[in-house]
Amino acid sequence: MKLAIFASGNGSNFQSIVDAVEKGTLQATVDLLVCDKPGAFVMERAAAAGVPVFSFSAKDYSGKEEYEQEILEKLKSCGVEFIALAGYMRLIGNVLLSAYEKRIVNIHPSLLPAFPGKDAIGQAVEAGVKVTGATIHYVDAGMDTGPIIAQQAVEINDGETEKDIAAKIHEVEHQLYPKTLQQIFEGSGKMFYHGSTVM
Ligand code: GAR
Repeated sequence: MKLAIFASGNGSNFQSIVDAVEKGTLQATVDLLVCDKPGAFVMERAAAAGVPVFSFSAKDYSGKEEYEQEILEKLKSCGVEFIALAGYMRLIGNVLLSAYEKRIVNIHPSLLPAFPGKDAIGQAVEAGVKVTGATIHYVDAGMDTGPIIAQQAVEINDGETEKDIAAKIHEVEHQLYPKTLQQIFEGSGKMFYHGSTVM
């Protein structure tokens, strides 16, 4: 499977996917990194891994449709078949949703539908929950609302800071994301998407 990864920041999940591809536990190639924050550390990771990068600043475009058209051209020129969002802090719009229908997944640091959107870990701490986690889901037009594919729980112990919890969630994500992508590509759990089979 020819993958593009979309990321905005550090890119530790990008790295876990690249590493799984190198190890052969994920049968895919990472053919493009799309990054909306030029200078983000994930771009250095891509350079080190030899992954081509398309970076852009949304403010240089008239709107989402215009920059997504440009992303789409890049995706097509790289032959990308499937998109994995990994810390990409932007909603996906109609241009990409219709071109890659049921072929875009996201990872989110909570047990959705709890704590969607920004600062999911801060929201969990604020709510005082004792369990949070990570979710992988298909992407639709909403904010973290698409059909859930996989989840793993992480306990919050007394005295743990947001930083401690983020580290535990990252550890889980780094295993869960490559493993789930492989399962999707193998078609091992036929995934259902609002009543119809996805893959
Ligand atoms: C990850 O924890 C991911 O779940 C989260 O951003 C982090 C990126 O870390 N995504 C979201 O919050 C999306 N709403 P990374 O840059 O080290 O992979």
